[in-house]
Amino acid sequence: MRFLFFLLFLISFTKASTPYELGKNVYLKNGCFSCHGRDLEGMHNYPYLANRAKGYMSYKLKRFRSKISENQQQDMMIPFALNLSDEDIENLTTYMYEFVKEESKKKYDDKFYREGDGGS
Ligand code: HEC
Repeated sequence: MRFLFFLLFLISFTKASTPYELGKNVYLKNGCFSCHGRDLEGMHNYPYLANRAKGYMSYKLKRFRSKISENQQQDMMIPFALNLSDEDIENLTTYMYEFVKEESKKKYDDKFYREGDGGS
């Protein structure tokens, strides 16, 4: 598993050319996936990032980079944003906005599906 990830990491690194690919590299290199998920799906208190508005994501990242956060929870983001260049943020937000799952080529599905009939 670890090896597979390393391999994916290498592959994604070598074919970097589009903003999407470059953004993906920045995302992997900075360990963003450890909180926001490999599929940008988020977990616990970490928001999902897939297919979210580029302008807003960029605004938030630049604020974190300037060490501005609204609460203690968000403080966590500051060290991860500090080293990002404007170009990194540009590429990252393109990656997030355009994100498609590699396997299915589908965008993140944030619709809520009810399983069963609600418990009868
Ligand atoms: C240690 C866990 C952690 C890591 C690693 C991390 N984040 Fe975050 N991220 C957070 C938390 C916590 C928040 C704030 C959630 C909130 O507003 O309550 C956040 C918020 C964000 C937001 C704003 C989302 C929103 O809804 O306002 C963006 C964009 C973001 N992170 C991108 C990144 C990127 C890009 C990286 C890698 C450079 C990264 N994060 C790494 C925990 C993390």
